[in-house]
Amino acid sequence: MKILVVGGGGREHALVWKIAQSPLVKKIYCAPGNPGTELLAENLPIRADEVSKLLEFAWEERIDLTVVGPEQPLSLGIVDIFQNHDLKVFGPKQEAAIIEGSKAFSKDLMAKYDIPTAAYGVFSEIEAAEAFIERTGAPIVVKADGLAAGKGVIIAQTCQEAVDTVRDMLSGNSFGSAGSRVVIEEFLTGEEASFLAITDGSNIIPLASAQDHKAIFDGDKGPNTGGMGAYSPAPVVTEAIHEIAMRDVLRRAVDGMAAEGRPYRGVLYAGLMVKDGQVKTLEFNARFGDPECQPLLMRMKSDIVPLLLAVANGDVSGMEIQWHDKAAVCVVMASEGYPGDYRKGDAISGLEDAAKLEDVYVFHAGTSIKNGACVTNGGRVLGVTALGDSVQGAIDQAYQAVATISWAGAQFRTDIGRKAIGR
Ligand code: AMP
Ligand code: GLY
Repeated sequence: MKILVVGGGGREHALVWKIAQSPLVKKIYCAPGNPGTELLAENLPIRADEVSKLLEFAWEERIDLTVVGPEQPLSLGIVDIFQNHDLKVFGPKQEAAIIEGSKAFSKDLMAKYDIPTAAYGVFSEIEAAEAFIERTGAPIVVKADGLAAGKGVIIAQTCQEAVDTVRDMLSGNSFGSAGSRVVIEEFLTGEEASFLAITDGSNIIPLASAQDHKAIFDGDKGPNTGGMGAYSPAPVVTEAIHEIAMRDVLRRAVDGMAAEGRPYRGVLYAGLMVKDGQVKTLEFNARFGDPECQPLLMRMKSDIVPLLLAVANGDVSGMEIQWHDKAAVCVVMASEGYPGDYRKGDAISGLEDAAKLEDVYVFHAGTSIKNGACVTNGGRVLGVTALGDSVQGAIDQAYQAVATISWAGAQFRTDIGRKAIGR
């Protein structure tokens, strides 16, 4: 088979790495890919949002399966366009990707199908928003409706801050049209988990549990990022929580989407808040989480290709996923300044030494090659991922690898996985 992976971050490097292990696969392309995917696939000079160029390539190369990593091409309708040309593709159609593309849609879906979530309102006028904020009180959460690269969620500590944030979003200053509507919701406390499942629109196969670390600094301090590290399994997802999440969140979402005439096929990611044995849904994403994908795929024992193909063909019934007993931890190394403006072009050292460590794989995200050397070229630069006999073992191994890698201004959290310890 010839497979095309769309995207160029750590998630896509992990997908390429896992797909490359399949005996079914002869050739992998990655668009645009990164220096990590280049070692396993042929990178293409096509961006993930250049849907017509991707179509032209897939059509001319007779690609057997296209796997879409990021949300933008899904929201642009890449799956619809490929299917219209009889090309097999893994991911939800545009009408279903809206579950991530519009937070207002997603919250209304949760309300309609009784999926537990925070109380909320959707607003496009400041007066009504202000009244809701006063009624609810702070802290309170303000979210831009549309895609905002993980940055459209502000936790306001005071009502005034919430009102200012809403005004800023509605004016189009900070998020353009993505902020022309806002979701305002009750602030929830608890421990977060990332619950991902593969679905063909009716059958649901859960992936192993995972937990992300959204904040930039240790102890979940500082502004939110795309994710500074992740691990699997996540003990916060006990068997009881797993049952509740499958029954009240995933099943209702998949059935709800079908009932809305928007059948969902692909990987559905539910961001959960867990507290006192209860689950509330923070958000849905229409794709693999990044960095959750990295530890999840390192733990996946079964061949991923038959699974992706089954989803593309619309029937995953009878399929199962086998997992390694080992735990996996991914520590993200980021550029100085991230998640704000960050440095670029710093030479990265130690990659070869890290690669020699047992059960370690360094996934590339924001890197590039300059004069034959690997340099930083993004906010999140590397996902240093390791397996271990326990989460603690995987933490130790991942940080041993992190210690061998450096560049000017590199930053990373030192507490990835700590919540899993001592539970
Ligand atoms: P979202 O993109 O909606 O998942 O929001 C990003 C992050 O903001 C989440 O992972 C949480 O850390 C935080 N967040 C979102 N909604 C809430 C909420 N209602 N209460 C507390 N934290 C939230
Ligand atoms: N790591 C969070 C996300 O992919 O949305």
